[in-house]
Amino acid sequence: MAKHRISVTVNGAAREAEVESRLLLVHFLRENLRLTGTHIGCDTSHCGVCTVHLDGQPVKSCTVLAVQADGCSVNTVESLEQGGKLHPVQEAFTEKHALQCGYCTPGMLMTCSALLAANRNPSEQEIRQAISGNLCRCTGYLNIVKAVQHAAQKMNGGA
Ligand code: FES
Ligand code: FES
Repeated sequence: MAKHRISVTVNGAAREAEVESRLLLVHFLRENLRLTGTHIGCDTSHCGVCTVHLDGQPVKSCTVLAVQADGCSVNTVESLEQGGKLHPVQEAFTEKHALQCGYCTPGMLMTCSALLAANRNPSEQEIRQAISGNLCRCTGYLNIVKAVQHAAQKMNGGA
């Protein structure tokens, strides 16, 4: 099968690879780059556990081909912690008990961090809308909403 050379900036580092045209971005991240924080759940664009940022926008990486990320910037959940300090949304998920099994958590964190980057004061409705493509079978979502509100307070200097 024909291979394509791609150049992708992943978590701030330039990466080059020869990939098959059918390779999904989620497999490129997990298998080629060993960035296994991005999970795979359904593989059919329903669950959202594979969410990463592609040029700053949250995308389900099981719906994107690696070749489509050529020339782009991709950030995974591994990028949220900076200099040993957790992102406010990571701290808030811990403090507000927004996870149980944790399988959905990397995707949730990427969706919620993208929301907060675009909107520092989201309403409950906006939070629920943002996470509507991320399934969680454990929490019932209430504590996830509370965690995003708490993260917003932190980012605005209020918590
Ligand atoms: S694995 Fe990508 S949406 Fe479920
Ligand atoms: S914490 Fe288990 S699926 Fe969300």
